[in-house]
Amino acid sequence: MRYLTFALGKGRLAKQTLALFEKIGITCHEMKEKDSRKLIFVNEDLKLKFFLSKGPDVPTYVEYGAADIGVAGRDTILEEGRNVYEVLDLGFGKCRMCVCGPIEAQEALNSRELIRVATKYPKIAKNYFYNKKHQTVELIKLNGSIELAPIVGLSEVIVDIVETGSTLRENGLCVLEEICPLSARMIVNQVSMKMEYERITKLIRDINQLSAETSL
Ligand code: PRP
Repeated sequence: MRYLTFALGKGRLAKQTLALFEKIGITCHEMKEKDSRKLIFVNEDLKLKFFLSKGPDVPTYVEYGAADIGVAGRDTILEEGRNVYEVLDLGFGKCRMCVCGPIEAQEALNSRELIRVATKYPKIAKNYFYNKKHQTVELIKLNGSIELAPIVGLSEVIVDIVETGSTLRENGLCVLEEICPLSARMIVNQVSMKMEYERITKLIRDINQLSAETSL
């Protein structure tokens, strides 16, 4: 039996994924060793391998087949636009992709003035404004702390993730438009889906069954 390889985005999403996997009997003790500098973790009994990467790189590893399966946020999957199968909504990591800004920006947004939009997600923002709203905007790519942009006058609005809304509130900003809901998704390499159909569909079935049981 060949190894089935999983790419997980470093951080909270990986922790939640591993907690979910444990519940369906997929464990990886090597990953729990605190001071380990290892990059790849193996479960020899189940013939599984796991590695952690930067979240936005997960779809890349999966598209090229370096990982058979990946777990990433829907935001990352939409932004990266890779050729992978999205097979499961894991139901955690729930948040929203929104257009946000100071309430005063609502008018400029509605009157379709040429506004600046700062974002870490230029593809999602472009798709929303150009293809869905048919509105021309100037997109500015940033790499983090996006809420700064309207505060310091870089842009009128931002396109960003809103989870609890506290970053917005604490900085005098609000949600102006909602683009789409987000959550953690399982993605699968297109060739792996055929070659490892049995093992991958069993994994999907087990997770679906667990979520059906826990929502009872
Ligand atoms: C994300 C996002 C918002 C914040 C939303 O940022 O970009 O800034 O979380 O969460 P909230 O609604 O619960 O306040 P992240 O912490 O990932 O860091 P970043 O700003 O560097 O992207």
